Amino acid sequence: MELPNSYWDKLASRYPRYTDVSIQKDASFIFGVAMDFGVEFENKTILDIGCGTGTLAIPLASKASKITALDLSQPMLDIFSHDAKILNLDDKIDIITSSWDDFALNQTYDISIASMTPAVSSIKHFDKFIYSTSGYGIFVGWGDYKNNDIVDILIAKHNASKSKTFGQTKKFVEHLLSKNIHHTLSYFETFWSDDYGFDDAFEYCISHLERFGIKANEAIIKDTLNAVRQNDKITFTTNAQKGVVVFKKLFV
Ligand SMILES: C[S@@+](CC[C@H](N)C(=O)[O-])C[C@H]1O[C@@H](n2cnc3c(N)ncnc32)[C@H](O)[C@@H]1O
Repeated sequence: MELPNSYWDKLASRYPRYTDVSIQKDASFIFGVAMDFGVEFENKTILDIGCGTGTLAIPLASKASKITALDLSQPMLDIFSHDAKILNLDDKIDIITSSWDDFALNQTYDISIASMTPAVSSIKHFDKFIYSTSGYGIFVGWGDYKNNDIVDILIAKHNASKSKTFGQTKKFVEHLLSKNIHHTLSYFETFWSDDYGFDDAFEYCISHLERFGIKANEAIIKDTLNAVRQNDKITFTTNAQKGVVVFKKLFV
């Protein structure tokens, strides 16, 4: 199911920033895989598609010569821009409000990155992403599973199962294989926790069940949330597999 733009706008204030410990761990794994494959970030032009709050762009900015970071969500970019300014990195980063579809590619970049973003999810998007780099590309997507303790309980209580597969990384790798593009693939596990008040937790459950195509039973959700609430706080813990793919353009 395609997520509306408003989903990302609403998520922005909760989305982790570059300082988040779980994100920092993911970022250092991703950069490690890239460097093992031969990527050097120093003095390179970097395109970050669906950059969000700058979780990858900010740690790369001091090394890169220039980062072009685009995202369709203004609230995500406002947080990114705020953090970049505080870190005195704003002259290193061009932040652009645009969807990947609408972004006019007037140049190629030494390195293109698409991390955890539906911006790069169809064959057309993959091709534009591959075309956007003259050197290396770094793609990060879901692996084979994503488990959320409370949502999983609710799915079972609705006598349903997860209809969605999280194999976006596999789809991208198959595309690279079909084009004979040299690449490497590594999977890693990540986990994070989020605290919500009751009303926000209720909305979170409804939207996650809908994403699995499950019609939510409000009474079941309220009972379940009441059973796990501690004071006024409900903690959701997610563990998931992500995949990182690094490819090299043939003519480099
Ligand atoms: C899960 S966040 C990933 C942020 C960051 N790349 C990271 O790895 O932490 C997904 C981001 O993709 C952006 N996005 C979704 N669809 C997009 C599109 N079609 N074009 C550009 N950005 C998009 C969202 O606004 C959101 O900021």
